[in-house]
Amino acid sequence: MKSRIFPNAFALLGIYFLISIALFSTPSQAVKHNLFRTCEQNKFCKRNRHIADYASSQTLEGKEWTSPYEIDVATVALNKDKTAKLTGNILKTTPKGFVTLPFSLSFLKSGIVRFTLDELKRQDGNIEIPGNKNIRKERYNDLDKWTLIEENLVLSDGTELNIEQVEHDLKISYGGGNKLFLQSNPFSIKFYRNEELQVVLNERGLLNLEHWRAQPPAPKEGEEQVKDSELNVWELEEGMWEDTFDGKTDKKVRGPESIALDISFIGFKHVYGIPEHSDSLSLRETRGQAEGHHKDPYRLFNVDIFEYEVDSPMAMYGSIPFMQAHKAGSSVGLYWNNAADTYVDIIKTRPSNDKMISSLQSTQTHWISESGLIDIFVILADDPSEVNEKYGSLTGYALLPQSFAIGHHQCRWNYNDKSDVLEVNSNFDKYDIPYDVIWLDIEYTDDKKYFTWNEKAFKGHDDMIKELDETKRKLVAIIDPHIKAVKGYKQFETLESKNLAICNTEDKPYHGHCWPGESVWIDTLSPEARKLWVSWFGKDQSWAGNNDNLHIWNDMNEPSVFSGPETTMDKNTVHFGGWEHRDVHNLYGMTYHNATLDALNERYNYKQRPFVLTRAYFAGSQRTAAMWTGDNMAKWEYLKAATPMILTSGVAGMPFAGADVGGFFGNPSTELLTRWYQAGAFYPFFRAHAHIDSKRREPWLAGEPYTSIIKSAIQLRYKLLPTFYSAFYQASIDGSPILKPLYYVTPNNEDSFAIDDEFYVGDSGILVKPVTEEGATSVNLYIPDDEFYYGYDDHEKIYKGVGNYRIEAPLNTIPMLLRGGHIHVRRDRPRRSATLMKYDPYTLVIALDKNGQAKGEMFIDDGESYNYEKGEYLRPEFELDIETGILSGTNEDETVLTPYLKSLWVEKIIIIGANANQIKEGTAEVVEQDEAGEEVKRSVQVKRLSQNSAVIVGPRVKLANDWSIEFK
Ligand code: GLC
Repeated sequence: MKSRIFPNAFALLGIYFLISIALFSTPSQAVKHNLFRTCEQNKFCKRNRHIADYASSQTLEGKEWTSPYEIDVATVALNKDKTAKLTGNILKTTPKGFVTLPFSLSFLKSGIVRFTLDELKRQDGNIEIPGNKNIRKERYNDLDKWTLIEENLVLSDGTELNIEQVEHDLKISYGGGNKLFLQSNPFSIKFYRNEELQVVLNERGLLNLEHWRAQPPAPKEGEEQVKDSELNVWELEEGMWEDTFDGKTDKKVRGPESIALDISFIGFKHVYGIPEHSDSLSLRETRGQAEGHHKDPYRLFNVDIFEYEVDSPMAMYGSIPFMQAHKAGSSVGLYWNNAADTYVDIIKTRPSNDKMISSLQSTQTHWISESGLIDIFVILADDPSEVNEKYGSLTGYALLPQSFAIGHHQCRWNYNDKSDVLEVNSNFDKYDIPYDVIWLDIEYTDDKKYFTWNEKAFKGHDDMIKELDETKRKLVAIIDPHIKAVKGYKQFETLESKNLAICNTEDKPYHGHCWPGESVWIDTLSPEARKLWVSWFGKDQSWAGNNDNLHIWNDMNEPSVFSGPETTMDKNTVHFGGWEHRDVHNLYGMTYHNATLDALNERYNYKQRPFVLTRAYFAGSQRTAAMWTGDNMAKWEYLKAATPMILTSGVAGMPFAGADVGGFFGNPSTELLTRWYQAGAFYPFFRAHAHIDSKRREPWLAGEPYTSIIKSAIQLRYKLLPTFYSAFYQASIDGSPILKPLYYVTPNNEDSFAIDDEFYVGDSGILVKPVTEEGATSVNLYIPDDEFYYGYDDHEKIYKGVGNYRIEAPLNTIPMLLRGGHIHVRRDRPRRSATLMKYDPYTLVIALDKNGQAKGEMFIDDGESYNYEKGEYLRPEFELDIETGILSGTNEDETVLTPYLKSLWVEKIIIIGANANQIKEGTAEVVEQDEAGEEVKRSVQVKRLSQNSAVIVGPRVKLANDWSIEFK
């Protein structure tokens, strides 16, 4: 098949060869900036930044800049069915008159407000697209079905709105102390919470929707190009019909169609989110020359960014256009529902008469997307957790993984053959290091043809998978979306014959290059293609066998196209439904990994929860996949960068996140490797991975003392699995991050707002500061509140109030404290895998707060199936008050008790923060309500562990029962 882009097969081979060399060779250790567009080089971004510059130059010159958009007040109306939705038209002024832009303003039952803006002519299909009959005329309007949870978009009743007209403007109270002011001319919306202004849309007048116009005719010879007669004086005429970069031209048959809006967060110094970037948690300014500012806006455009750099706003593998702003007393969430190439500029304003940096007041943002609708959701909340909960109500909560999936994963590119896999598997047993999953990278296939095996190296793969199963281990195999374009390969031939690949402008499968050489890409926007995809994972497919322990890794789904512009797909390729790739670029990766989850659900007949890892992701990906931060380097700065990246992912509703432990490219020193395992033991997704050229580095190869230290970090993760699992459950019901930035716990302490090298593990009170400096033997750990904190292992009370603490951290130590007031759960018996811990008893760890109290809860189910959705789980709550001397365990939820759940019991309770008078050595009385509701009493032994802690030995209480222990 001839490729539109590379007509010459030799040129193809040459390019592939060069790319292969670049990708396989030792990294030159710097991202290739020239491969990726800056805002200046991406003309839709340049055009919108130009408007921003024009507007501020006017203001500087004392002239007034006024947004050329106003509401046509006569058109504004409430929904006919009296639901809380206003619609009407916004008029855009152009030199040729007004352009009509229908808007809607919806008030959801959840308290979230949605604003959309479309273009009438395109809605009606009333435009001409020269030369291309196959693409749609509308602006892309099909995103909701992928990103949003429809049943949560229910509108409030119109009677719940209190609408007051003030001349041409509307004041609307919409409940919960929330209000907005809809100004008609120029158009703007101001959002208030408890009378305090929080967010303003179009405050700076940068709203822009490049409306459809006919392309000016090409100049006749000797004549000059006619100017676009629809352009206002402040608009740039650049790259509107085509845009060339790096020798590749992007033809835009629909002409300029970008959208932009400025969104100001009033009184907020910090904004967070919009992953994926390798940057700080609190986002930086992107304009101005001051130190620490980025020069370019944050870009959201899924790309395979080879050798990405840290501290950068450059686009990476995934995109979530969700931003959070936080200040003491309130938080805001902003979701920009658009999957096109997007940039976000950030400016922090100073009050005009105060030059002190410390008085930075507001954050102004400028959102720019290449195409599609303006479709935004504004969430006003009390605190960051409420923002997560509401954002999750829109795009869904993270899936609850199986227990094995939150254990330790061992990967490398590649395990060479069957015996290599089985040897690594048995070495974990030999060295007594827990792990749950071994991974196979692309080399397991026959010539990178997914759904096949390299039968020579992996002869007997079925037996291999069975053997893994017998040792209670799982296999994760990689399946990428590029399908080798070669005759005789079933997957390719089917995609081609059914035309289910992403198409070029001639409606033929688009060809490009990736690992297998020339390839096509499955179009997972197509329902038929998805069905086909699902069928390829069935138990009847010989490659996948009949095993139940196979799960999938989806990589290169940005999609990565080595031969394409910016290492991805040409924007004018076409998807199912006639949508240009331009409109759905950031969405594609999610449609792909969702299809894989569907496939595994079918394969396992919904009997077990599948595990899918994805590199590309979008808003909503959390519902079906885990992510990792892609190809990092075995360098200290990448270890450091991983923490804020994972925290940001959690802030943006995608908490099942990790980074390659050890670093992908290069060879870590044993010290770096050890420190990375210590940090990785806390990553929600905990996987060691390495590039094909890196030296082998399974933990036993590090040598002593490193191997033992690594082993104990991994064992700590396994002890804490019940705590992690409970945090995952919480995430699955309310969007809570698994690793919480400090400001989630101390939302009123401004000094904690930008801290991104420490985190709490869920609600456990465990505060961790990974060591990320070479040679460090201690760290500076910031305690953000006036609570008791204890050393995790020595139980010593560290208490001098809020501030920095020097914590000893020799190589065998992870700086880790326990905040008073929490109870967390462990399983202390060392085992070889999470699966093997299923029946183990629990240890409760209680850390008392300043008032001598502590609380906690946990979640347990079978760790595998969907049965918890039918009520088969336990959710015990624990509470200790030292004054009453009573510790209790209660189950509030009405749940379905299976024999397994009834069998679970507590073998140890550690109480930290109680002196020998408060918890005396001796005995305590247990009162347990047995299954029949009878009270059973017995006494248990209490031993002092240290001046500050005690242990109850063998309380043997069942978690399914209600119980109490009284200290004498
Ligand atoms: C990509 C992935 C990496 C993987 C490699 C080969 O670079 O990010 O994790 O090992 O492809 O499949």
